[in-house]
Amino acid sequence: MTSVTAIRMAEPVEVADIIVKAVDISKRYGDGTQALSDVTIEFRRGELTTLLGPSGCGKTTLLKIIAGLLPASGGEVRVDNRTVYGPGPERAFVFQDFALMPWASVLRNVAFGLELRGTPKAEREDIARRYIKSVGLAGAEHKFPSELSGGMRQRAGLARALTVNADVLLMDEPFSAIDEQMRRKLQEDLLELLREEQKSVIFVTHSIEEAVYLSDQVVLLTRNPGRVVKSIRPGFDRGAGPEAVRRDQRYLDAVDDIWSQLKQYLS
Ligand SMILES: Nc1ncnc2c1ncn2[C@@H]1O[C@H](COP(=O)(O)OP(=O)(O)O)[C@@H](O)[C@H]1O
Ligand SMILES: [Mg+2]
Repeated sequence: MTSVTAIRMAEPVEVADIIVKAVDISKRYGDGTQALSDVTIEFRRGELTTLLGPSGCGKTTLLKIIAGLLPASGGEVRVDNRTVYGPGPERAFVFQDFALMPWASVLRNVAFGLELRGTPKAEREDIARRYIKSVGLAGAEHKFPSELSGGMRQRAGLARALTVNADVLLMDEPFSAIDEQMRRKLQEDLLELLREEQKSVIFVTHSIEEAVYLSDQVVLLTRNPGRVVKSIRPGFDRGAGPEAVRRDQRYLDAVDDIWSQLKQYLS
């Protein structure tokens, strides 16, 4: 099935409910690598959408294009129905490798997005302290990145993205370098933060379970070239708590469905 068919088959959504739309995106790198081909995806306001697929299918490329950090070779990115041509304050990128400045404290790192925007020191540190607390890092304000665990660094990266108050968070495999227990804790924390903060999130992972567990929408991509295979809305109720959700038949069916789709494309 092509991306076009998958999108057309989806239920119609009011334009106002689409916060980001990638339209016919293709990307060819300078060395000729065709990383993406005709990728069209709608991201709904207030939802978490996961881009899921094997290594090399263009997830990072697509996220950078949506962020405005990398130009597409074809197609366009719309935010609130307006075409964008570069980075903007409504989108914040949370990098896979945390991208913290090793010489700066947690406080300065978290406040850095605001520093770049020229927010006065007292104000930006106030805001940063609030988000440091909300991601569970209170007390670590004056530590340096090298003094933090992987999970704590990821929390600092998330806090920095939250301080700039962007509507859209772009997260590239944020939990992939973190051990399983901490990963589950961070997943819970992320879902709780999203309930409080009303963000729209575009989340990249190669874990099927993580994608289904976190997402309102899961977009399956495959490689050579990167393209959309299918879009799935798991549609179960998260209110029952993490253990109950992971035993929910709809959760298990969605995981099976995605795996059977993806394995057709593995050589
Ligand atoms: N700067 C680059 N120059 C050339 N090819 C690249 C570059 N970055 C990524 N690629 C290639 O583009 C494809 C998609 O890469 P990427 O977006 O990193 O995929 P993913 O994040 O899904 O693993 C891969 O074939 C990769 O080797
Ligand atoms: Mg990647």
